[in-house]
Amino acid sequence: MLAQIQETAQWIKDHTSLRPTTAIVLGTGLGRLAEEIEVIEKFPYADIPNFPVSTVEGHSGCLIFGRLGDKEVLAMQGRFHYYEGYDMKQVTFPIRVMHELGVKTLFVSNASGGVNPDFAIGDLMFITDHINFFPEHPLRGKNFPTGPRFPDMSAAYNPELLQLARNIAQEKGIRHVEGVYVGTQGPTFETPAEYRMYYRIGGDAVGMSTVPEVIVAHHTGIRVFGISIITDLGVEGKIVAVSHEEVQVAANAVQPIMADLMREMIKRSC
Ligand code: HPA
Repeated sequence: MLAQIQETAQWIKDHTSLRPTTAIVLGTGLGRLAEEIEVIEKFPYADIPNFPVSTVEGHSGCLIFGRLGDKEVLAMQGRFHYYEGYDMKQVTFPIRVMHELGVKTLFVSNASGGVNPDFAIGDLMFITDHINFFPEHPLRGKNFPTGPRFPDMSAAYNPELLQLARNIAQEKGIRHVEGVYVGTQGPTFETPAEYRMYYRIGGDAVGMSTVPEVIVAHHTGIRVFGISIITDLGVEGKIVAVSHEEVQVAANAVQPIMADLMREMIKRSC
């Protein structure tokens, strides 16, 4: 696997002279930000050696090298979800390649169902912590030399980046909430009993991504900031049927605010 990571990183280095230290996983809600990137190189996942290929609707599957403001950025347009059938090594492979390429800071976004009764649809939640509910751990197996066998997880979401986000939100008058993201395998949305359980065990929102990527990024020493768009509510009395389309619609509505916040975060984080 290390050989594959190095082969992929070398292929990328041979195809672009850009060496960004900032990466973005353009999950749900960050399409608008993607449009603002001055694209210098765009590699479809299918062209990159050893890369899995994204299949889910709403994610196009390209690795973008470009500029956002005066910062060089690497952006993943489309991520690999466990529910698509990839194993954890595949889901987190791009993060390992990012590390090999010299990435130091990672921004991730997703859509989630709010289980905290104080949350509303359209809220932006800064992820302060997570609960890993995936059935397979991304660090299972022989330990990678990028980090310890038993990694500390006391601050997986970088406190300085979180504070920077709070400052920017306050300056710009962007309303936000903060909370714990529960990562589950999907692809089913939750039953009312499951939503209730996730709230009771300490979650504020539940979704089907992010946790594996964050664990691996943290293990390699990459600083992480995560943001989640609350697209539906798993709160007793407010639960209605959810569809992927509705999730997209709710996420699209807050795209301009997300883009504004993330643009500024990327500009000010070193
Ligand atoms: N549950 C799981 N994943 C999700 C949800 C949800 O309610 N909303 C968006 N992604």
